[in-house]
Amino acid sequence: MRPAIIVHGGAGRLRGEDVGRRLEVLRGAADKGYEIMARGGSALDAVVEAVVVLEDSGLFNAGLGSALTFDGVAELDAGVMDGEGLIGAVAAVRGVKNPVVLARRVAELTDHVLLVGEGAERLARILGLEVPEEVLVTREKLERLRELKARWRRGEDYAWLAKLRKLVEEHPGYFGTVGAAAVDGEGRVAAATSTGGYWLKLRGRVGDTPIPGAGFYALKGVGACSATGIGEYIIRFSLCRAVCELMAKGLPAEQAAREAISRMSAELGEGLAGVVAVDANGGVGYAFNTEAMTVAYRAAGMERAAALAPRKADQRATA
Ligand code: GLY
Repeated sequence: MRPAIIVHGGAGRLRGEDVGRRLEVLRGAADKGYEIMARGGSALDAVVEAVVVLEDSGLFNAGLGSALTFDGVAELDAGVMDGEGLIGAVAAVRGVKNPVVLARRVAELTDHVLLVGEGAERLARILGLEVPEEVLVTREKLERLRELKARWRRGEDYAWLAKLRKLVEEHPGYFGTVGAAAVDGEGRVAAATSTGGYWLKLRGRVGDTPIPGAGFYALKGVGACSATGIGEYIIRFSLCRAVCELMAKGLPAEQAAREAISRMSAELGEGLAGVVAVDANGGVGYAFNTEAMTVAYRAAGMERAAALAPRKADQRATA
């Protein structure tokens, strides 16, 4: 059994700036995860470390790059799961640079699956995972928030969810959640996802990312999946669970990802989400119904990870 990993840097619209840099970081994250597994490490180690690379880059809406809430704080969500029974997640945590690591610790050290807010922050403090607030809430981000709010206020009422689609259109960097799905040399599967949510979200809002079956999922002997997009819709559809169930019926990762996204589009509309998935046979795949997505993957026989930013029009199979 040869390992395989696929990572994503979010789905949505792509701006020209930074795309090259983001693809390079994604490629580095996929290579890091792959090499961990090539040295005998687990799929769980691989997805967590790959996501840490993305959180630390500051280029995605996760970890250092996380979006701010309407009132200017960074509340982060993350979840991790493998097919061996490990599952953990954190939601609405402040002052934690790598929520994916905290999510793993929730799984390993507590009897719970999901810790939120102050309780999760207390665990982060005990484990030395806390960082000062200004690491995640920079002056630059506060300025960006001010501009976004001004734009939002012009001509809009406070009917939050009804405005969501328009905001997505107006602000291309809306998505940028990160995630990874991997299968290791022993056939173990795992997935991890991490996000800052989205700009202007209300304090206390939790999206799909820390919800098992929505933002992440892994099934022993079957495969694993990580999602990105508008959490409210991904939760409604239980997107990652849908992908894993399709793989459980025998579909390879690539077809399962496409089929689930196609069903989600039919049920809830276009422009909402993207997924990456691996199957237990070492296949990787991705699909999205947004304008574009950024992904990187490395499977058997590849010397280096491939990174790409497919558009909706040229969506195609990976390995
Ligand atoms: N998919 C990330 C979020 O909606 O929070």
